Amino acid sequence: MPETKVIDDAATAAAALRQGAIVAFPTETVYGLGVDATNLDAVRRLFEAKGRPSDNPLIVHVGDFTQWTLAGSSLPAFAQQLLKAFSPGPITVVVPKNPAISQLVTAGLPTVGVRIPGHAQAQHLLQQANLPIAAPSANRSGAPSCTTWQAVLEDMDGRIDFVLRGDVCDVGLESTVVECTGEVPVVLRAGKISLQQIQSVIPSAKMLSSRVDHDTRALASPGVRHAHYQPQAAVRLFESVDELTSLPLEQRSRAAAFVFDQSENILCLSHFDGFAITKQFKSLECYGREFYELLRQADRSGIATIYMHLVPQTDEAAALRDRQLRAAGKKDV
Ligand code: TXA
Ligand code: MG
Repeated sequence: MPETKVIDDAATAAAALRQGAIVAFPTETVYGLGVDATNLDAVRRLFEAKGRPSDNPLIVHVGDFTQWTLAGSSLPAFAQQLLKAFSPGPITVVVPKNPAISQLVTAGLPTVGVRIPGHAQAQHLLQQANLPIAAPSANRSGAPSCTTWQAVLEDMDGRIDFVLRGDVCDVGLESTVVECTGEVPVVLRAGKISLQQIQSVIPSAKMLSSRVDHDTRALASPGVRHAHYQPQAAVRLFESVDELTSLPLEQRSRAAAFVFDQSENILCLSHFDGFAITKQFKSLECYGREFYELLRQADRSGIATIYMHLVPQTDEAAALRDRQLRAAGKKDV
């Protein structure tokens, strides 16, 4: 087992990546678990460290726009438009892959997800490494993503070589993944860059419709087949606050409630029993930033059930609602 070292210097982290190490690093969305995407041995060790199924492709990260050729072999017009509008930032474009990127990274797909993070340490690291860096979210497979370096250690201590220490991630939810090789861009995973923002650049863009054709969805983004973002606590969803307030007393034991009050635009976390955190956020954005850490805090507090009020079905709330549904094991709603 490797000894995991916490470091503060991006240049040291870049040198380690070049030598085949597994290095966790901060991005504006969530922490990533980076390896050199051209180093098969490192990629294999990464899948093993994370417990990741081999049919779930990894996103490849580069430091700036000039480096996209490290990952892709061509940049379809949609991808160019989206990168120009939203990168560096929380968006991933799926494009034809560069042959230097192993099939292991892309789970056998001819395409690769390319992302240019808008985070100073990540950019410094990637530019110094001057390599395509495959980086899934830095959690154990299936668990909530990590938005702090401490959460990375909680999941990965002794399983990876380095953690590049940074601040709490600003966005807190993973990038928007957009398939760009077809007739219209298709959003495979909702994220901070919303469908409406994408449509403001390319009006024909659409969201992948899970109900229409599950096989196509699975093929397009193999990751959607697997459980994601799930805490150890059972997550029970509800659409209205009334359902929660009428819960019988015996169901409130070792339970927490995450409630979002639309009229006040405020989230309250109330503790029913034993959950010592009560927070208020003034916006959806703030809630999204802390969502994964709240799930982890509930687990640390031994909460058995989280009653979770779903955020509204709006463009702005789509990514958070998607993660709420997945945290509850409801993948295809
Ligand atoms: O914000 C993020 O995207 C973070 C940070 C670290 O950059 N990364 C991240 O990676 O969330 P991961 O591995 O947890 O999620 C990658 C998602 C999966 O749903 C996967 O199926 C999809 O992207 N994906 C990757 N490559 C793909 C491809 N070639 N075609 C379709 N989907 C792809
Ligand atoms: Mg992930």
